[in-house]
Amino acid sequence: MTDTELKGFLNLYGRYMSEKSTKRAIDWDKIQQPDESMLKPYDELEAAAADASGEGELLKKLAVLKLNGGLGTSMGCTGPKSVIEVRNDSTFLDLIVQQIEHINKKYEGADVPLLLMNSFNTDAETAKIIQKYQDTNVTITTFQQSRFPRIDKDTLEPLPLSHQGYQLSDWYPPGHGDVFESVFNSGLVDTLLAQGKEYLFVSNVDNLGATVDTKILRMLQETECEYCMELTDKTRADIKGGTIISYDGKVSLLEVAQVPKQYLEQFKSIKKFKVFNTNNIWLNLRAIKRVMQTTGLELDIIVNNKAVGDKKVVQLETAIGAAISYFKNACGVNVPRSRFLPVKSTSDLMLIQSNMFTLKSGSLVKNPAREFATTPVVKLGDEFKKVSAYLSRFGSIPDVLELDHLTVSGDVSFGADVVLKGTVIIVVNTGSKVMIPRGSILENQVITGDLHI
Ligand code: UTP
Repeated sequence: MTDTELKGFLNLYGRYMSEKSTKRAIDWDKIQQPDESMLKPYDELEAAAADASGEGELLKKLAVLKLNGGLGTSMGCTGPKSVIEVRNDSTFLDLIVQQIEHINKKYEGADVPLLLMNSFNTDAETAKIIQKYQDTNVTITTFQQSRFPRIDKDTLEPLPLSHQGYQLSDWYPPGHGDVFESVFNSGLVDTLLAQGKEYLFVSNVDNLGATVDTKILRMLQETECEYCMELTDKTRADIKGGTIISYDGKVSLLEVAQVPKQYLEQFKSIKKFKVFNTNNIWLNLRAIKRVMQTTGLELDIIVNNKAVGDKKVVQLETAIGAAISYFKNACGVNVPRSRFLPVKSTSDLMLIQSNMFTLKSGSLVKNPAREFATTPVVKLGDEFKKVSAYLSRFGSIPDVLELDHLTVSGDVSFGADVVLKGTVIIVVNTGSKVMIPRGSILENQVITGDLHI
């Protein structure tokens, strides 16, 4: 470990050992709904500038950072999640580079650099992959986030016993809250400031909806907002996401882990807490420097229980959202759902690959031919979990323009050019198989059991 890594780990570990609770206690009665200065409606933000040159001036001050520490293991892939092919052979990274390339071309003066925060799990492979972007107009810089030792749950001692002979599984990247320490300690904050950059737009690498937005950028400049979180309207599927509140007159993030049991239902209801965190975060670089040089950040600790072989371990993590209360004039913006298109599963991937979206300069644009405002709900079963299995089960991605809901469970495959409309449910028992023939049109159908159609 480097000295700064060791210091960071000892701070987190020390807090974990000394605090009875790892999260801030919340007095439920003090929670207030954020007003419109704390949670701004996106539509009411002013357009960035009347002409493109004004936008170019703003964009000169921006750098984009993607959180690239995660692996694609939950979708059965080895290697960084960002190298999964999502659309026409293009990976997340390819599309992100295309998005920024387009901005740098379109706006005079814009020279938005791309920073990738890798973990020790993703660094080497990412370094190889980004060579292919050498001829683009995007400057790409990578840096590595901290690498902390996992802790034995029984003895509470770190797993690696020496500098030699340890295993990779003894270590972990400590969550995206680590971005502040890592970007500051890497010297990149100073480098960017010296280049005239003032703002940093951070988001998950798997969210292709997290594109550069000059309306939000202008708002940061005009309100001297040091930290802006994008939040979007909750649906029943997002009830666990953190939400923005007013607490002691300050903007704060309320996470499910902080909520007393008796208020859990209230927290999950979409009536009281209407929006949730997309993890698209806009930061003022000078403010990061000030906070890191003065108070530092003591972000709530997320205790992640895991197993390494038959050993129970914990890894202590932090989240970027928790930092909101450390910054001046912090606020949220209530953005449209189109800015939150994460790919956590092959069900998400199917939508991103489908005709729900078209591609424009690396950005996903909702297909105007879809007449409904909502996106379809897709639930593919375990047989589709790995990307390779998912791909092998579709002759081509079905037409979903008129689909509301799709549930697939069991050994199901789809021929090419299938059209799905309304609600389609296909449930096949173990030992049976269903092949939806090429060109089928399924509209409001339930297919169960052994039926072969
Ligand atoms: P998360 O792990 O918080 O969310 O990563 P996720 O991708 O939704 O994870 P699952 O699928 O629910 O378990 C959010 C983003 O932060 C990055 C990831 O690569 C992803 O882009 N990340 C996460 C890091 O860069 N470092 C970390 O230590 C953790």
